[in-house]
Amino acid sequence: MSSNFLFPLTEEHEMIRQTARDFAQNEIAPIAAEYDDSGEFPYPTVKKMGEMGFMGIEVPEEYGGAGMDTLSYVLALEEICKADASHGTIMSVNNSLYSYGLLKFGTESQKVKFLTPVATGKAIGAYSLTEPMSGSDASTMRSRAVRDGDVYIINGRKSWVTSGPVANYVVLFTMTAPEKKHRGITAFLIETDKPGFSVGKKEPKLGIRASATSEILFEDYRVPVENRLGEEGEGFKIAMTVLDAGRVGIGAQGLGISEAAYEASLQFSREREAFGQKIGEFEGIGFKLADMKTHIEAARLLVYNAAMAKERSKKTGERFTLEASMAKLFASETAMFVTHAAVQIHAGMGYSKELPIERYFRDAKITEIYEGTNEIQRLVISRWETGLK
Ligand code: CAA
Repeated sequence: MSSNFLFPLTEEHEMIRQTARDFAQNEIAPIAAEYDDSGEFPYPTVKKMGEMGFMGIEVPEEYGGAGMDTLSYVLALEEICKADASHGTIMSVNNSLYSYGLLKFGTESQKVKFLTPVATGKAIGAYSLTEPMSGSDASTMRSRAVRDGDVYIINGRKSWVTSGPVANYVVLFTMTAPEKKHRGITAFLIETDKPGFSVGKKEPKLGIRASATSEILFEDYRVPVENRLGEEGEGFKIAMTVLDAGRVGIGAQGLGISEAAYEASLQFSREREAFGQKIGEFEGIGFKLADMKTHIEAARLLVYNAAMAKERSKKTGERFTLEASMAKLFASETAMFVTHAAVQIHAGMGYSKELPIERYFRDAKITEIYEGTNEIQRLVISRWETGLK
């Protein structure tokens, strides 16, 4: 199970990984099946994650965060996802999709008001780009914000919003100038306790069932100009920049789910006997384990490398689009490959809800879909490499 993994981790990295591992295994793993089954939002453990500093790992301490680097974030998220991908999704949206955008594009007063409560874990953040008729083609959204003096009035329906039913704040992307297409999209910071905001249909999902997902509805919602994130028309670029960060996190999620499924398979193949021997002695199982392990270690390198690229970008401003998309693409497909093999190795027990293997399998699938389907990742990677569109 050990590997000669040579990626340079500092003492701080080892510490956050161990802290996250202990918390995830002691507090989250025991309750994961229950919340998966009920589909309830796991408020008590999410609150504890906030208290432990997991909701704003890269946010500077002055805004209530832990002030750590991207690799620390990825190591912690991987451990949380190894125990339960639903908790990982909630953590990932708060850290990347919500906090990263505010940190990069927010004004000082926006950071104080909107970032601090989420980074300290006292509030929950969400990111809302998708609409019922606008998914991968994100620039075709129909929701509108119309300026009226010092406010914008927002109307429209957004869908597939992670943490939508429970969020206190949402980074919303909506059209201010539809004739300008993607250059007519603007980002806003939304307070969900104000009139005109409501939660729509909740999505009953295959996996990550304890992470709440819903539509959110805007009916003459009035947002003050000072809550606009960036300038008018900058929304699409902000959305894409933030998704680059999000995709590093989804890579870490795929990695964590894969590790959980692999370690369970390894243990099972050492213990379970058939035809008078341990099943791990059969080449059919052994070769599966070998492929699972190799995919996981390759995914790890891509994900940690993407984390380093994102960290570098804080100083140089360089984009890490390619590294993030490759990490998300490969780690998510690894998660599907590994969890599929894990169910097969466990056979009937893998299909049973008595073990977490079937949950890993169900949870893995979303990593190939959200924050840009893997078809979109391939598009991003190939466009980046060829320079063609
Ligand atoms: N960083 C910065 N800028 C970027 C960028 C990036 N990663 N990607 C594109 N841009 C810029 C381009 O430079 C271009 O700028 P100009 O206006 O100056 O020309 C502009 O954005 C438009 O770029 P494209 O012409 O490439 O745009 P496109 O319409 O062809 O779309 C796409 C590109 C890759 C398909 C993009 O639309 C995309 O990523 N789609 C997927 C959306 C997605 O991931 N949705 C998931 C939403 S979140 C979610 O899953 C729910 C949740 O809560 C977790």
